[in-house]
Amino acid sequence: MRAIRGELLHFLGDPAERGADAVEHFPDGLLIVREGLVAEAGPAAALLAKLPADARIDDRRGRLILPGFVDTHIHCAQTDIIASPGGQLLEWLDRYTWPVERRFADPAHATEVAEFFCDELLRNGTTTAAVYPTVHRASVEALFEAALRRRMRVISGKVLMDRNCPAFLCESCEGGHAESVALIERWHGRGRLLYAVTPRFAATSTPQQMRLAGQLFADHAGIYLQSHLAENRAEVAWIRELYPDARSYLDVYERYGQLGPRSVFAHCVWLDDADRRRMAATGAAMSFCPTSNLFLGSGLFDLAQADAAGVRVGIGTDVGAGTSFSMLRTLAEAYKVLQLNGQSLAAERAFYLATLGGARSLYLDDRIGSFAPGREADFVVLDPTATPLLARRSAACGTLAERLFVLMMLGDDRAVAETWVMGEPAWRRP
Ligand code: GUN
Ligand code: ZN
Repeated sequence: MRAIRGELLHFLGDPAERGADAVEHFPDGLLIVREGLVAEAGPAAALLAKLPADARIDDRRGRLILPGFVDTHIHCAQTDIIASPGGQLLEWLDRYTWPVERRFADPAHATEVAEFFCDELLRNGTTTAAVYPTVHRASVEALFEAALRRRMRVISGKVLMDRNCPAFLCESCEGGHAESVALIERWHGRGRLLYAVTPRFAATSTPQQMRLAGQLFADHAGIYLQSHLAENRAEVAWIRELYPDARSYLDVYERYGQLGPRSVFAHCVWLDDADRRRMAATGAAMSFCPTSNLFLGSGLFDLAQADAAGVRVGIGTDVGAGTSFSMLRTLAEAYKVLQLNGQSLAAERAFYLATLGGARSLYLDDRIGSFAPGREADFVVLDPTATPLLARRSAACGTLAERLFVLMMLGDDRAVAETWVMGEPAWRRP
């Protein structure tokens, strides 16, 4: 048994629905961990007395401790093209994405990138992520190996593409299906790893591949499906040409059995109300990727409409179209995207979305996303004085909400002092 003492903050529900009742905050708190799981979280004064005399206590007073961040959409293989300028989505895919993904045919390269990628997630306080590798089996194996060794929760699976991509990334529909089955059997449920059937987007799969992907999703209990949806206007027009019978882009995924609990769609910018209602009714989730949507000039995500329809929403960095691994920076951009849409994002809601909200969108809130007893003890230790400006601005804050807002607007990886996975330190800022 061990415990960590500091300012604890986590969510019991969505602040947009439950207001202050959704927030649990212990200014001098103690988080007690037993066998990698949260045993109890509460005021230090009450809990210290209950600890056995030999329990180890890490004193982090002055720091803010939150559940580990949940990144619901990111591309491991695009680590090396982050910050590559020019072009909207389809041009950017041609110019940067295909060439960088090609390199993952080499297992040594896939391993080197996966190791860096997982470390970078931890440096940013992210302990759970839904990740795109590439079409190459080696890219999936390398990512899962790297995450398994760090005991991180990673949801991933081989990317499926059988048309409208360069020959060096294109596979037969049957080959992609057979490899997916083998990977599911080998990896799903190993450690904290979960498999996601990953048709890249409807444009790069034939109807036959879309059908087989939907079938894989249906046939394997507990697995995930991830894809991209309605990110960019030219992309949406192209999907209309490729699937003329579908009512909408979303309807393509629905026709092929790809909507349901544990299916996660990145972007969801160009949807209508009928689409949002179908996502809510089927239990599919949206991943809001603000830095990517701004960087590629894709459009503005509408959180108010997603909320009104009752859709599950998480936050995604979408590196490499996204411009940061930092969930703090991503929340700052989410705030600005919503401002441009005439909406707002309260700081408590933002941190909810990055933790419990993300966990709920992935149907993992019984395991991660909060400090409720029995949850996996993944957490991030934030330093509100990490930079001179953060320290100065934080010192002038009166309320928790003000301090959180300053952290999300000014913070980045420098504010992440430590990241803990399953109750053990996994990364510490030197
Ligand atoms: N749509 C299909 N593939 C991709 C990708 O790699 N990145 C983004 N942002 N959108 C996509
Ligand atoms: Zn993406």
